[in-house]
Amino acid sequence: MKNSHLMISALVIGLASCQKNSSMSNISTEKQEVYGKMPDGREVKIFTLTNKNGLKARVTEYGAILVSMETPDKSGKLADITHGYDTLDGWLTNTSYFGSTVGRFGNRIKDGKFTLDDKTYTLAKNDKPGGIPCALHGGLKGFDKVLWSGKPTATNGVELTYVSKDGEEGYPGKLTVKVTYTLTEANELKWEASATTDTPTVLNIVHHSYWNLSGDPTKPINDHELMLAAPNFLPTDAGLIPTGVIAPVADTPMDFTKSKVIGERVGADFEALKLGGGYDHCWVLEKGDGVRLAARLKDPKSGRVMEISTDQPAIQFYGGNFLDGKTAGKKGVQYAHRTALCLETEGFPDSPNQPTFPSPVLRPGQTYKHVMIHKFSAE
Ligand code: BGC
Repeated sequence: MKNSHLMISALVIGLASCQKNSSMSNISTEKQEVYGKMPDGREVKIFTLTNKNGLKARVTEYGAILVSMETPDKSGKLADITHGYDTLDGWLTNTSYFGSTVGRFGNRIKDGKFTLDDKTYTLAKNDKPGGIPCALHGGLKGFDKVLWSGKPTATNGVELTYVSKDGEEGYPGKLTVKVTYTLTEANELKWEASATTDTPTVLNIVHHSYWNLSGDPTKPINDHELMLAAPNFLPTDAGLIPTGVIAPVADTPMDFTKSKVIGERVGADFEALKLGGGYDHCWVLEKGDGVRLAARLKDPKSGRVMEISTDQPAIQFYGGNFLDGKTAGKKGVQYAHRTALCLETEGFPDSPNQPTFPSPVLRPGQTYKHVMIHKFSAE
């Protein structure tokens, strides 16, 4: 009797907090739960955002990761269209950056070194494409592997904060970073990052979800159609570091200015594709002010479409070439070669070492800002 009374009280408290959240957002619900514990015992929360059309995004404080994204196909059937894991334990050992917020510097830095204001900084060389060591995605314990602090926002979102210490992973400056995920009634998932520093530093914070719009993570993404609003791309050396050349895509298999089936040209006899083992390059977006369309991805069978808009100068299209079937993800699925792709809006890779590229330097008093909007539909 006493127990059932307690249970009813708990239920009422649960409902009250749910209603509070839903009235905060007016239209939708934000739910907050414990997802698990860090190895050191700290609790990790997971937030669920839903909208009136049934879209559902789950975001965890660990790595500021998008855990799942459910969207409807053309017949209204919902499916999760991201690679990842079912439980926190999976994410703790994630080596593919599934769903992660990557930083401080997303993408590669040549030889794990850069010089800023006459001082040289040395980073961990945690990647070796073509046998050539470099720094990748923020180092051994980047933003994807730390615990952020999350709270619901007033607009059907979650705001995550992380303070990165001066010298963390070799980068200068104490950096305060905020990442916000918002799910709108217009079926957009907005990922927004901002940061300030107390010492000059370099920065390229990147969202790194792996998408398979079919909703079936065993199917290759080769039949997806992709448009990139990018007339140029950055050719790389064998270590996947940009050579510094900004090359036109016209008349090459890198041309996605009009929508193309990914698998059509991925095996073409073209140097960049050979070096990347497929598509794994940075495309330079058409110049423009503010947030503008960068990419459109469509799975013709399910009809799902994802449009990405950003305020950044570039986008990395990574075709899942390193997925090798050895990682067991959600529901135990072994993620095979090219069963998902990443579209990562960003600054230019290796820009700390390339003075002709847009500068990645953030100085005290300045605020870094990055907006990335995923808009989902079906046709
Ligand atoms: C890079 C790939 C890399 C992958 C790791 C992507 O952003 O372009 O080369 O293997 O991240 O998850």
